[in-house]
Amino acid sequence: MKLISKFSEGLHGEIKIPGDKSISHRALLCSSISEGTSKISNLQESEDVINTLKSLKQLGINIIKKSDSYYVEGKGFRGLKESEKKLYFGNSGTGIRLMSGLLSIQNFSSILTGDESLSKRPMKRIIEPLLKMGANISGSNEDTLPLRIVPSKKIYGINYKMPVASAQVKSAILFASLGAQGDTKIIEKSVSRDHTERMFEYFGASITYSEKETTLRETDTFTSQNIEIPGDFSSAAFFIIAALISKNSDITLKEVGMNPSRIALLKKLIQMGGDIKVFNHSSFGKEPVADVNVKSSSLNSCEVTSDDVPNLIDELPILFIASCFADGISSFNEIEELKHKESDRLKAMQNGLDKMKIKHFLDGNVFCIEGMGKGYKIPNFLAETYYDHRIAMSFAIAGLNSDSSIEIAKPECINTSFPEFIELGKKLGCNFEIS
Ligand code: S3P
Repeated sequence: MKLISKFSEGLHGEIKIPGDKSISHRALLCSSISEGTSKISNLQESEDVINTLKSLKQLGINIIKKSDSYYVEGKGFRGLKESEKKLYFGNSGTGIRLMSGLLSIQNFSSILTGDESLSKRPMKRIIEPLLKMGANISGSNEDTLPLRIVPSKKIYGINYKMPVASAQVKSAILFASLGAQGDTKIIEKSVSRDHTERMFEYFGASITYSEKETTLRETDTFTSQNIEIPGDFSSAAFFIIAALISKNSDITLKEVGMNPSRIALLKKLIQMGGDIKVFNHSSFGKEPVADVNVKSSSLNSCEVTSDDVPNLIDELPILFIASCFADGISSFNEIEELKHKESDRLKAMQNGLDKMKIKHFLDGNVFCIEGMGKGYKIPNFLAETYYDHRIAMSFAIAGLNSDSSIEIAKPECINTSFPEFIELGKKLGCNFEIS
């Protein structure tokens, strides 16, 4: 199967963006360990989130879908049951890392696996702090899947200074801290997304979090909740940039998550000259949401600093695409973490940029892209995705400004986070075809 993305005359209309991936994982986990039944609306129905849902069912949690909502019968912090089979998390770093924290406090053993890409991703970053807390967790060759977790006598709260800015690591520690003896304090280098903190607070945990410091006090129970998941800002990002770089565009995206630790891209694009308006502000639980209107714009180059990186880490590939259509040289500092995502995203993007005839270079740990300005038409080519959803969607958006079309190999990987991407894109006027 191939996705063909053709030159498009302009994007128009209004769509609702499906639920946020990070928040969907957390909603399923928190509901499963609360007391009572929680209702989740607008859950992201992507492969990643469905793998987390299936794992929770294997662990004895009853989850049913009625109309458009999911009902989860919580069993308390230590109420999960041993799974007969290994738990499979597909492509999802978030699913496996958060679940590792939670399984570390159960009184049974578990084996956690994933697909080829996840099997290569670093797990030492969660193994180390979890071992310090008293968990019994090990990986293969210390660092990779499968992960094996066996019950430990006691789990202790931890004071932990994070060596990497990672919400997945922070969250694995927080899930393991539920029911632990003593408080947990986590200090971050740069602020990473705080969805776990907000959701723990919503479920009644005694938690405080400010910029770079999170403290979870001993907590015994979560109370079940109704959760409405905001639209995924990272999914919205593809259409925001599509509208900015396509001529004659004017689109509105409804109920998009506006968590401050996720929207660095929005601020960058506005600084670059993007015509973007955020309005209808409200909140779903502890998470802010708003509608976003975007119109075609002439963009200037951008500078991404190391502090920006955690708050736009998933948007870097599509921001690279925006930079190709901006005036001047854009620079991206300390983007090392890009190499440890669903693929080596730096390499994947460098290869695609070569085919787009875009000049780019690495200067120490600064990656630079020389923009060609508004109206640049990229040559036709076949984009490699490395089976990475965000790489596939980034090139699909670039194709809207192509000479005639670009082809994207194996677009099925888009289902990892955004199964509705092609259909919603077409609704807005993206010239997408499947062949
Ligand atoms: C996520 C955190 C980020 C992000 C990922 C989702 C989360 O990963 O890239 O897509 O839901 O916690 P890291 O924590 O590894 O930076």
